[in-house]
Amino acid sequence: MATSALRLDNVDAFYGDSHVLQNVSFELGEARMLGLLGRNGAGKSTCMNVGMGLLAARRGEVSVFGEKVTRLSPEMIAARGVALVPQGRRIFRSLTVRENLIVAGRKPDAGSNHAPWTIDTVFGMFPRLKERTAQMAAHLSGGEQQMLAIGRALMGNPRVLLMDEPSEGLAPQIVAEVMATIRKLKESGLSIILVEQNPNLVFDVADDIVILNTGGVAVVSTPAALRQDDALLRQHLGVF
Ligand SMILES: Nc1ncnc2c1ncn2[C@@H]1O[C@H](COP(=O)(O)OP(=O)(O)OP(=O)(O)O)[C@@H](O)[C@H]1O
Ligand SMILES: [Mg+2]
Repeated sequence: MATSALRLDNVDAFYGDSHVLQNVSFELGEARMLGLLGRNGAGKSTCMNVGMGLLAARRGEVSVFGEKVTRLSPEMIAARGVALVPQGRRIFRSLTVRENLIVAGRKPDAGSNHAPWTIDTVFGMFPRLKERTAQMAAHLSGGEQQMLAIGRALMGNPRVLLMDEPSEGLAPQIVAEVMATIRKLKESGLSIILVEQNPNLVFDVADDIVILNTGGVAVVSTPAALRQDDALLRQHLGVF
């Protein structure tokens, strides 16, 4: 892995007195997809929050394309090309689809060599959002809300996309659509961390896998190796 798009080095993170991440290190390679797995409460979202600057690491370092961003604000980290599709979507429910996209707009940073995302290109990727451009986001289906959440992140013109359980609560057919979109984004050269509970979804698209267990990195591997190791998956992910 020549360049790392996002790196956590020996990160410790706390919510108040609660020590949630312990000595977490992993690396997302440029233009790669890292699947981040772990049971409920393993610390996956906390890692995404630390990567995005929503929670400051108390110890350790976070870097984006080799530059330290540890303890920078989310705005400053976004300006370095990182965007988060948060768990539970977190769209503005009382704004329209179009307004949700507009308020998320951000110019690409200097290191980006892609054509900037616009409302039109987001609508090109998600035609269903185009049909609902004037509709209030609260009235979208779960799948459409997820598409909007992804569209909002893309409007930030990221080089690194953090996706926290985008398939959560969606019907299988919609999950397949969302996964097809994620695959396209990867092919476009974005570096992606895909957080999931379902290993099989991630194994189909990811290059690298990290499994968290109780706030620490338990496994760093590849889909090919893990598919052969049911015992290890059961140990860290439970029965599935
Ligand atoms: N805001 C918070 N305040 C206090 N504790 C928190 C907070 N958010 C998460 N935690 C705790 O931190 C630990 C890690 O939570 P986190 O949300 O990172 O897990 P997760 O792997 O994303 O789980 P899930 O798959 O359920 O989303 C859990 O024990 C959780 O209860
Ligand atoms: Mg989570």
